[in-house]
Amino acid sequence: MKPVIIQPPQVDWFTGAFAHGATLRKSTRIADLAGIFADTAAWHRTDPDFAVYDVEMLESPTGEGELYTGVTHLQPGKIGDEFFMTRGHFHARREQGEVYYGLRGTGLLLLQPEHGRAYLQTVTAGSVHIIPGFTAHRLINTGSEVLSALAVWPTIAGHDYTALASGFSVRVTEANRQILVREVQNG
Ligand code: 6PG
Ligand code: NI
Repeated sequence: MKPVIIQPPQVDWFTGAFAHGATLRKSTRIADLAGIFADTAAWHRTDPDFAVYDVEMLESPTGEGELYTGVTHLQPGKIGDEFFMTRGHFHARREQGEVYYGLRGTGLLLLQPEHGRAYLQTVTAGSVHIIPGFTAHRLINTGSEVLSALAVWPTIAGHDYTALASGFSVRVTEANRQILVREVQNG
């Protein structure tokens, strides 16, 4: 019998757009990001309906051993002097890692180990980021274009958004047209 040949989903390496596959999409708006940015007054002044980032994911089987594939599209912009960023999270299953691949735009991936110091990696088209287990992660768009990154992670990983209630220990802002990365005490 002839083996079946299936057309797989496609990703456009320049935009991160998916084709030939069923996808799910989730938008995160300014209103969803209460308490994330340092300048609360500036956050209040920003259109609550503005979509800061969208995640488009391929529909995947779930369960032990299965993987999700998704692209995050993070808009350029700032709240006060702080660059737009994702909420950021630990995986609920802390030991589960993830891989990010930069597709377009320029930014930073903030990595914060559960025990240890936060560090950052530059995200550009073609960059590869191995996020170890037990490490919270957040994308930050420091450029003027959309920042898009492809990610692959275990479906069982889940998200824990509450463990970082006091915030990541690094903030990235613009000062005198320069990107300023600084460590902070309580997020
Ligand atoms: C994940 C991935 C990634 C992430 C998005 C949005 O584990 O699902 O890291 O798809 O969810 O970049 O970031 P937040 O989940 O922190 O809003
Ligand atoms: Ni993740």
